[in-house]
Amino acid sequence: MKEGFSKLNKNEKIDWVIKNFFNSSETDSELLKKYWTNDSELQQIHDEFSENTISNFFLPLGIAPNFIIDKKNYTIPMATEESSVVAAACKSAKFWSKRGGFRTEIIDVIKTGQVHFKYNGSKEKIFKFFNDIKYKILNDCSLITKNMIERGGGILNLELIDKTNDIKNYYQLNSQFNTVDSMGANFINSCLEQFAKTLESEFIKSNLFDNNDELEIIMSILSNYVPECLVRAEVRCKLDELKNNEIEEPKKFAKKFIDAIEIAKKDIGRAVTHNKGIMNGIDSVVIATGNDFRAVEACAHAYASKNGNYSSLSHAKIENDEFIYWIEIPLAVGSIGGITNLHPLVKWSLKLLKKPSATDLMKITAVAGLAQNFAAIQSLITSGIQLGHMKMHLVNILNSLDANEDEKKILKKYFNNNKVSFQSADDALKKLKKDELSF
Ligand code: MEV
Repeated sequence: MKEGFSKLNKNEKIDWVIKNFFNSSETDSELLKKYWTNDSELQQIHDEFSENTISNFFLPLGIAPNFIIDKKNYTIPMATEESSVVAAACKSAKFWSKRGGFRTEIIDVIKTGQVHFKYNGSKEKIFKFFNDIKYKILNDCSLITKNMIERGGGILNLELIDKTNDIKNYYQLNSQFNTVDSMGANFINSCLEQFAKTLESEFIKSNLFDNNDELEIIMSILSNYVPECLVRAEVRCKLDELKNNEIEEPKKFAKKFIDAIEIAKKDIGRAVTHNKGIMNGIDSVVIATGNDFRAVEACAHAYASKNGNYSSLSHAKIENDEFIYWIEIPLAVGSIGGITNLHPLVKWSLKLLKKPSATDLMKITAVAGLAQNFAAIQSLITSGIQLGHMKMHLVNILNSLDANEDEKKILKKYFNNNKVSFQSADDALKKLKKDELSF
């Protein structure tokens, strides 16, 4: 047990962890410091994002140009460690930029939150009580909601929900919010905690209840399930227009593509991987723009199960000789608040996206997910995924084999025409070192 650890300064924390877990190794201590930036102000910003910070943990920031979204041209920032993700996004962006680009639609922007509470008295009384104090509950929030209302958002709705069929004595205050350009977590949670305070204090004052009636607040928290904060992104083109040097038989390609989606709709084993590929694109934009990828992930997968079975988040069909392919996904993202105006690379990424509103960002993010899914399915139903994947992963393999820059250069050329695997890279490197590699 280490008491008062959080009170130590950064160097003391490093000394403690290195002494206790790294056998006082200088190298392991230096490694942490190598990742600090030389700019002390910048380093301080990063240190203060979290608690007990000892270093920075880098993710590559890539960019994917050539995205046409609703007739506008975007270069999308993507923070990801997975080697093929940005390349796949670029490939899809280019493909669809020649076929009309991506079209998007915001279906709604509603977020929700609940005060969960228990009450043991009669239902009639609690509903009457709620109706009597509803206005007061909302009014008590006016200081919290003032700025949000000025920006065009606020509390949209507040209702009492009887959940006693699920859990004895369980009720909810369920509220809907519009948080405009912010993700809105702090705003929503502050409103909910105020709702709970008013509910409790008005209950104590009320003469509707008798001495045996008890109300207990369990918790007040936003819901990360936001099925009504929904965006749709779509591409479409005539079947023949799908043709390019990789898609020689467009009709056959489109049918196989639809089969691949159908499988992801029906088989959970495939659906999870299919949606993971979508999230490769989505998370990388969510991270680059400083949004909460855990919230977006949790919600996306819950939404994928909305009909009772976990299923594909993307859809495709052929209609009137046209290939139509789309995604519908809830995305609670914001372009203000949180770390969006603190993290310098997040600010940079938002600038790259031309300072998007939250709804613009929902559209861009959904497009990144659809593009990623298109590239994955295209590979899966044609060449197979490993060809592109391993090519992109080659440098990582060579780095893990300690190949030097000259060796990497030669081996990259060699693997233009040879199948990449860890074993083949290892063999080729060994041969190269012995001057026995011929190609
Ligand atoms: C790999 O990160 C993602 C894929 O597995 C997605 C998919 O299978 O659709 C390629």
